[in-house]
Amino acid sequence: MICLGIESTAHTLGVGIVDGGKTLANSKRMYRPQAGQGIVPRAAADHHAEAFSQVLREALDTAKVAASEIDLFSFSQGPGIGQCLRVSCAGAKFLSSKYSKPILGVNHCHAHLEVSRSLLGMKDPLYVYVSGANTQIITERRKPRKGQMRFLVLGETLDMGLGNLFDVFAREAKIFPAHGGEVARLAAQGSYFPLPYTVKGMNFAFAGLLTSAVRSIGTRKTEDIACSLMETSFAEICEAAERALCLTGKSEVTVCGGVAQNARFCGMLAQVCEGHGARFGVVAPEYNADNGAMIAFTAISEWQKGKREKIDALKPNGYWRIDEVT
Ligand code: FE2
Repeated sequence: MICLGIESTAHTLGVGIVDGGKTLANSKRMYRPQAGQGIVPRAAADHHAEAFSQVLREALDTAKVAASEIDLFSFSQGPGIGQCLRVSCAGAKFLSSKYSKPILGVNHCHAHLEVSRSLLGMKDPLYVYVSGANTQIITERRKPRKGQMRFLVLGETLDMGLGNLFDVFAREAKIFPAHGGEVARLAAQGSYFPLPYTVKGMNFAFAGLLTSAVRSIGTRKTEDIACSLMETSFAEICEAAERALCLTGKSEVTVCGGVAQNARFCGMLAQVCEGHGARFGVVAPEYNADNGAMIAFTAISEWQKGKREKIDALKPNGYWRIDEVT
């Protein structure tokens, strides 16, 4: 089965084409806000709409398939920025109608989890999901009555996502580009000093940490603040993940989402896993950044489980939580 997946929940427009378990194409374009700004929803949606035909053509050319050869169209239905979500929804609906092929809406968080699980060949891992807006520790559980698998959020951020923490700090510290990757580069050159650390059971919070980090700007070296910000936030998630690992007794752990591209964080989690005899895995950065292939992978998996949807009933759901996925 060849599936085309469209991603547009936030800053990235992606079109991926997957044939069974093989990625044929994974094209993308990123909306870049002006210096000092976060995502402007209307501007990001305009970017995605304008780039859509180009990214679609690039993906089809790379995959060497015609649009008429696609068996299933899919799109990121949520959660995300409403105006951005409308682009992938409209695009997938148009293609599904034009070529008379089925369509599925995919939960963006589920896609991050599923692409990691399937590419790593894991059966039932503990998921540490770290992205811009979402930071959660997730497991799958079987519902006693119906026997269905549902996602269960064991712990999560009580305020902002991990990626947003780094982006906001970067903007306040006038780091450009204001992105976690740049904060990580500075952190590697810095030294640690204590900052507020908040873990409550398997939940964690970053607001106090951010406030203290921002207040340190100008009084401490930016590299040292970046180092302490990252070490503290990563340690919070590792503590919560370790607690979840002990509770569930899982033998596999994967980290997924945009911040899973951070080598230091992966190293810390791998150490936690080693201490508990659990296998740790992370997929290539291409699949942890937002991308269309993860949407297609998940749509194929859902299709094979028997999921079918009516095109007219599909609409974006900006607040679709992972534990509402059925
Ligand atoms: Fe994402």
